Amino acid sequence: MKVCRIAKFNAAHRLYRPDWSDEKNNLIFGKCNNPNFHGHNYKLEVWVSGKIDPETGYVIDLKVLKEIINNEIIERFDHRNLNLDCPEFQDLNPTAEYISIVCWDLLRAKLDSTYDLSVRLWETENNLFEYSGS
Ligand code: NI
Repeated sequence: MKVCRIAKFNAAHRLYRPDWSDEKNNLIFGKCNNPNFHGHNYKLEVWVSGKIDPETGYVIDLKVLKEIINNEIIERFDHRNLNLDCPEFQDLNPTAEYISIVCWDLLRAKLDSTYDLSVRLWETENNLFEYSGS
């Protein structure tokens, strides 16, 4: 059984590699390399799968999952500049791929190991990224 909790956060970022020339950054990242940053309304789907607890009838209490997501993701990234404010991206280009992996790692550390975890990150209504640990 799989259950999902959805969370939303707004954040700014810039896609940029300091080891590349401005020309190459512009070529590869285009407008996403705007030096003054740009923002997204991210939507994160957090999918947890496991057995139904016969006592509660739940796979996981979604109130508990909501708290974990709030503490680990929303408090950390909402209304932040990912490049400047978030140590997670100090040396990591904050592409949606890497944001997905960072979110997965943070959540995985707080979830019982009996659960399987998968995250899906919507960066725009057309661009979706999924990570399940590999
Ligand atoms: Ni962007």
